Amino acid sequence: MGRLQKILIPFAGLVLAFWFYSAREDFKPEMLKGKRVIVTGASSGIGEQMAYHLAQMGSHLLITARTEAKLQKVVARCLELGAASAQHVSGSMEDTAFAEHVVKEAEELLGGLDMLILNHIGSSYFHYFDGDVGHVRKLLETNFLSYVAMTVSALPMLKESGGSIVVVSSMAGKVGFPFTVPYSATKFALDGFFSSLRQEFALQNTNISITLCILGFINTDSAMKAAADVVLIPPAPKEECALEIIKGGALRQREVYYKYATIKFSLLLRDWAADLLDYLIRREYNLENLEKK
Ligand SMILES: NC(=O)c1ccc[n+]([C@@H]2O[C@H](COP(=O)([O-])OP(=O)(O)OC[C@H]3O[C@@H](n4cnc5c(N)ncnc54)[C@H](OP(=O)(O)O)[C@@H]3O)[C@@H](O)[C@H]2O)c1
Ligand SMILES: *[C@@H]1O[C@H](CO)[C@@H](O)[C@H](O)[C@H]1NC(C)=O
Repeated sequence: MGRLQKILIPFAGLVLAFWFYSAREDFKPEMLKGKRVIVTGASSGIGEQMAYHLAQMGSHLLITARTEAKLQKVVARCLELGAASAQHVSGSMEDTAFAEHVVKEAEELLGGLDMLILNHIGSSYFHYFDGDVGHVRKLLETNFLSYVAMTVSALPMLKESGGSIVVVSSMAGKVGFPFTVPYSATKFALDGFFSSLRQEFALQNTNISITLCILGFINTDSAMKAAADVVLIPPAPKEECALEIIKGGALRQREVYYKYATIKFSLLLRDWAADLLDYLIRREYNLENLEKK
């Protein structure tokens, strides 16, 4: 290799790395000021934290989940934190009619929509697949079909605003993990639906961004309760996770990875050494504690 190439290649690498990282730092909280946002699954966990971040940024919020009392508390906190407005609708996403109802509420209460954050999940088990087909069907309704229904209902408003759809998924929606078979199926389905839809938006010049968020283990109460004693990986903080999702959505990124380096490295392994990744994943579980569950 010539001396010039020896210098040029690392230099080009540095320039690319710099460009990439500086592009990632472009986010400004003002981007969300006055924006009309729906957050689903916002009564606890990552959804609740996203509502608080958006409130501090001055967004108009419509939040939803099943538990009325929790939603009221989150709304009150959002108003304290500086939300332009904050309202809630309660109901279950097992029913696609409710999913459509939430979008109609946004139209009436906010007069339009800039960002649709799809984040809720129905409860499932953390154990070997139990063969219950009915549960898989029910979870697909809650974790997948309601996302589809909300997207379809929100399309006219999002087209008008040049808005964004943010879909919260998981490493379990990109790679096979044990003990979450029905859940993984619903997350892979989201990738298929929204990645295909993104292609059609590009072909049709539909100016709606779709951001799929690939999260690792996060320290929400429900995840800690389900898996903390079995999963050996240390969990990442839900507050920072929530902020990274909002940043990715505002910057119209195609995917968000949190935490970035761990997830990117795993996905690299998935494509180049799948058996090795599978083996490394299987080593991250305490099977004795699983049996005690
Ligand atoms: N925590 C993690 O380790 C982790 C890892 C990867 C990906 N994620 C993803 O991050 C997102 C949030 O997870 P999280 O840990 O924050 O979960 P979470 O704390 O359990 O929150 C789930 C939310 O969904 C709502 N919900 C549950 N069943 C519902 C139903 N039938 N209809 C409507 N809403 C319902 C819950 O409120 P109600 O009970 O009041 O309805 C709650 O607000 C999910 O998409 C999850 O897959 C999490
Ligand atoms: C798409 O929408 C975004 C955000 O609303 C806007 O900044 C951008 O200029 C729009 N692009 C086109 C091609 O209209």
